[in-house]
Amino acid sequence: MTAISAAMYSFDISTGTKADLYRDLTAAIDAVTADEPDGIANMANIAALIWQYLPDLNWAGFYRMTGEGEARELVLGPFQGKVACIRIAVGAGVCGAAAASGATQLVEDVHAFPGHIACDAASRSELVVPIVVVGAVVAVLDLDSPEPARFDREDAAGCEAIARVIGDRIGRPGR
Ligand code: SME
Repeated sequence: MTAISAAMYSFDISTGTKADLYRDLTAAIDAVTADEPDGIANMANIAALIWQYLPDLNWAGFYRMTGEGEARELVLGPFQGKVACIRIAVGAGVCGAAAASGATQLVEDVHAFPGHIACDAASRSELVVPIVVVGAVVAVLDLDSPEPARFDREDAAGCEAIARVIGDRIGRPGR
C-alpha cells in the first residue's frame, strides 16, 4: 500500500497588537503560497487563513478579474462565508469600485455606500483591496464584517501588505 503523507500546517499567529497580527498573518500566507503555482489553491488557503485569524468577519475571499476590454468583470473566487453573488461589473458596488480605481475601499457603513451589493444582509462594514500585477488589477480581496466600522487604516495597510505578497501567486496569466 502506498503511504500517503499529509502536510499539517502550524502557524504562530500573535494575538498582540493589530500590527503583530498582520505581520504574522502575512508571513503565514507567504509560507503557504510560496511554492504553489496554482492560483486557485493559493486563494483558497489565503481565504482560510484570513477567516481563521482575523476576528469579527462574516465573509472573506476573492473576486477575480476576467474578460478583456468592455467584457471585463469580476467573478467570484475562493472564499469563506455565506454564498455570494457571482459576477460584479467593474465599477459596481464596493468590489467594483476597488477594481475600477485600483484603490483600497474602506467602508465603515455599507448602507451609506452608493451601490453597495448586499450578499449577506448581516454585513455592516467592508474592506476591499485590489490586487495589482504589473499595473493591472487581477483580483480584489474582499472582507466583510457584521460590526459597524470593523476595519480601520491598519487593517487596510495590513491587507495591502498581503496583496503585495500574493499578487503574482494568484493572478499571473496562465497560472
Ligand atoms: N459587498 C460587495 C459584494 C460582495 S459580497 O460582500 C461578498 C460589494 O458591494 O461589492
